[in-house]
Amino acid sequence: MFKTLGLMALATGLLLSGCGKASTPTINESMTQVMSPQTQTIWDISSRAFNDKGDGLVAEKISPTDWIRLAKAGRALRDRARLLARAPHVVVAAPGELILGQDAAHEGVKHTWDAASPKQVQALIDANPALFRQHLNALADAGDSILKAAHRKDIKTVYEVSSQFDETCDGCHQPFWGTDEPPPFPKSL
Ligand code: HEC
Repeated sequence: MFKTLGLMALATGLLLSGCGKASTPTINESMTQVMSPQTQTIWDISSRAFNDKGDGLVAEKISPTDWIRLAKAGRALRDRARLLARAPHVVVAAPGELILGQDAAHEGVKHTWDAASPKQVQALIDANPALFRQHLNALADAGDSILKAAHRKDIKTVYEVSSQFDETCDGCHQPFWGTDEPPPFPKSL
């Protein structure tokens, strides 16, 4: 146990120190550690604040703590998306880092809906980095809107932006990951 922890600490240290510069986090780390949990926080808070008709949110149903959590989640999304958008080159996954569904991927040209390997996703991004950056900037803007709306307790904007998250996320997943659904469960398991 301690040995494993020690190895993990060592691995993390190596990752962080990479050539003496702080390296840009991978796409995969950003998705699993930042985009996914922060978006979940925003959705959880907004879904608790629905009005009786279910077509809008009620500001009074959001507690002071939850406004702060909303602001922090928006800021975390914005900052990570900006960091990636400003990096000269982004890396999908570090060696050994697994991406969802890659076990089901096959070599060669990937068609839409095929499960993708990190190499295939990397090739899609490298073929059109400007479009990838555009999607990152859109996500950064969405995060920034949540942050600013939370400061103003502007429930209308929180509702609008959080209900569009699906498109903000899938708008990039579709062209670069090739799916907006989790890929099929690997047959080998
Ligand atoms: C700029 C493009 C882009 C945007 C915007 C984006 N993603 Fe992703 N996302 C990717 C790519 C590329 C992958 C495939 C590589 C991978 O799995 O890490 C991915 C994969 C994922 C995965 C699977 C991670 C895994 O275990 O392999 C999750 C979860 C995810 N994204 C969540 C989100 C959420 C939530 C949002 C919106 C708030 C979002 N993403 C927005 C590019 C994006």
